[in-house]
Amino acid sequence: MTLPGVRIAGTGSAVPERRLTNADLEAIVDTSDEWIRKRTGIVERRIIDPSKGEGQLSLATDALRAALDDANMVGADLDLIINASVTTEMTCPSNAHRIAATLDAQPAGAFDMQAACSGFVYAINLADSLVRSGRHKAIGVIGCDVMSSVVDYTDRGVSILFGDAAGACVLVPDENPDRGCIHQVIEGDGRGWEALYMPRREEDVVEGATGENIRLGCLRMDGRGVFRFAVTKFQQVIELALEQTGLSVDDVAQFVCHQSNVRIIESAKAKLGLPDDKVYINIDHYGNSSAGSVGLCFDQLRKAGKIVDGDIVVLVAFGGGMTWASSVWRV
Ligand code: UT7
Repeated sequence: MTLPGVRIAGTGSAVPERRLTNADLEAIVDTSDEWIRKRTGIVERRIIDPSKGEGQLSLATDALRAALDDANMVGADLDLIINASVTTEMTCPSNAHRIAATLDAQPAGAFDMQAACSGFVYAINLADSLVRSGRHKAIGVIGCDVMSSVVDYTDRGVSILFGDAAGACVLVPDENPDRGCIHQVIEGDGRGWEALYMPRREEDVVEGATGENIRLGCLRMDGRGVFRFAVTKFQQVIELALEQTGLSVDDVAQFVCHQSNVRIIESAKAKLGLPDDKVYINIDHYGNSSAGSVGLCFDQLRKAGKIVDGDIVVLVAFGGGMTWASSVWRV
C-alpha cells in the first residue's frame, strides 16, 4: 500500500502588538541595550497585554485561524488540533480544546503538547505521521508560547531573551507520496532537565537557590549550560538531516531554526557553511518565543515567497526537557 503524501495547505502566525524594547528592560534590570544586542541579537520582543484579554489561548487561536484562512478552510474541516506550548492558561481543559470550540472544530480531537522550544517541530512531525497513516485528514498544528507569563522580570538572565508569539499550519493528505516530511527526529535527554524548568513548588527547585530568589511558576535557566548544549546539538541535528536524506546545503531552500540566540544560529551557520540567505533570522524583533518561533519564521518566509511549493525546507529546534527535533520537508 502506498501511503499518501502530506501538504501544508496553509500557514499563519500571530504576535501581540505590545513591544518590550531593550531600553524598557534597562529600566527594570541591571542590563544594557549594547549587552543584549551583542550577546543575543535581540532589539525588541513582543509581549501580550493581559488587560486586553490576550494570552496563549488568544494568540494560538489567531495563528490557527490565519492558517485556516490561508488554506481556504474552516475549523469544521479539521479532525485534530495539536497545540504545542509550555504556557497554556490551564492544564484542564487543554487550550487545544478551547481553540477547537472557538473555531467550531468539533468533533475534532485536540490536545496540548509540552516540548518547550521544540514543540512546533515535535508537533508537525507527529501530525505528518498521522496524516500519512491515513488516520487523519486535516490537522491544525500550533506552536505558541507566551513566555512573558513565566518570565521573572527581575532575573536578567532570562528576561532579556524571551517574547510571545504563535505560528501554525494546516496539514492535509496529498496524492504525491513524495510530498511532505521526508526525514524527522523527535528526541530528548531528560537527564538534562534541570537546565531549564519552571518549578511549581519549592521542592521542585533543584539547584540550591533559596528564599527570595525563587519565583514559583517562573522559568529558571542555566543559560550558559543551555547555550553549550544548543551549539553542539544544532550542528549535529542539521548534519544528520542532510546525511540521512542525501541532500546537500545547495538542495535546501531554507533552514528554519528556532530563534534561541543569534550566536547559537550563527555558530551553526559557520560550522556547516550555511549561506545567509538560507537561514532566516527574526530574533532581533521577536526575541526567543519558545514553541512559537519556528512556526512564526515558517509563516513569514512563506508569505515573503521564500518558501514555495516543491522547496526542500529543514526545520530545527531544541529546548527544555532537554528536547530537540528536526523535520525535513518537500513542501
Ligand atoms: O530557547 C531555548 C532555551 N534557551 C536558550 O537557548 C538560551 C541559551 N543561552 C543564552 O542565550 C545565553 O546563555 C544568555 C543570553 C542567557 C546569557 O548570555 P551569556 O553570554 O551566556 O552570558 P553569561 O551568563 O555567561 O554571563 C556573562 C556575563 C556575566 O558577568 P561576569 O560574570 O562575566 O562578570 C553575567 O553576570 O554577563 C553578565 N550578564 C549580563 N550583563 C548584562 C548576564 N546577563 C546579563 C544581562 N545584562 N542581561
